[in-house]
Amino acid sequence: MNRKELQEEIRGLLRENNAILLAHYYERDEVQEIADYRGDSLGLSIEAARTDAETIVFAGVHFMAESASIISPDKTVLLPRLDAGCPLADMVTAPQLAAARKKHPEAAVVTYINSTAVIKAHSDICCTSANALKVVQSLPGGGPILMIPDGNLARYVARQTGRTIIPWEGCCPVHDQLTAAVVRAVRRLHPDAAFAAHPECREEVLDLADFVGSTTGIIGYAGRAEVAKLIVGTERGVFHELQTRYPTKVFIPAAEDFLCPDMKRTTLEDVLASLTERRYVVKVPEEVRVPARRALDRMLELA
Ligand code: 13P
Ligand code: SF4
Repeated sequence: MNRKELQEEIRGLLRENNAILLAHYYERDEVQEIADYRGDSLGLSIEAARTDAETIVFAGVHFMAESASIISPDKTVLLPRLDAGCPLADMVTAPQLAAARKKHPEAAVVTYINSTAVIKAHSDICCTSANALKVVQSLPGGGPILMIPDGNLARYVARQTGRTIIPWEGCCPVHDQLTAAVVRAVRRLHPDAAFAAHPECREEVLDLADFVGSTTGIIGYAGRAEVAKLIVGTERGVFHELQTRYPTKVFIPAAEDFLCPDMKRTTLEDVLASLTERRYVVKVPEEVRVPARRALDRMLELA
């Protein structure tokens, strides 16, 4: 089957099975094109909570499908590729978090949604890059905050809010590889362009940005900024949405290799197999799901 045939076959099966396809903005173009909903981590969680479809096919990475299953335990959540993980989510384990809590017993634990269900279950509240500032500002003032597992995001939130934040030393290997030297070189080539960066990038990179925000934040900024050219400091999959929404603007990748291999794993063939073979079902055991849901709900109540 060619691309179009595969896409039609998938859309037909989604209809027949009362299923929806959710796709993160970093997924392959051909998958994003046929999604019922494209979004960032926050948008996809909200959609997973809102849908009345019986099955959610999640074109994203494992923690996203897990979050959908935590929020909607009565629905079947399918992740087309079980090997689509997130290295950042694996940078904190339950024993490590328990040790950190012991060391900082007075700290509230704010956990980035890019984390496993077990880690969420041991957290006070979750956040995404879109609402991290709001989540931290919602916590009673004064006390320290342990922010896991992304150190770049934690340091960014600390600078923006002035709160005492203990950062975890994890990072997204995809965003963290971008350096200030590379951004400066791209800016020299495009002096008339603005630069927008994701808060998973290093501080030295964020210091050069005209705008810092989540994937959805960057898309919004691209629309309202009065510039014809934007250097984009996040994963290249977002170019699909940027070019669809703003066809007259020019988007330049901050780095040619700004690609997340895990987000790129899921092909149309995988989505089709996921629907025909009902694979791979992601389900979180109740003893983990219930406390993890509490942390996610506290976040969603602020949305
Ligand atoms: P957002 O979807 O919150 O922008 O986060 C980016 C990301 O790295 C998702 O894995
Ligand atoms: Fe994880 Fe980074 Fe890939 Fe997002 S872009 S899934 S944080 S490795």
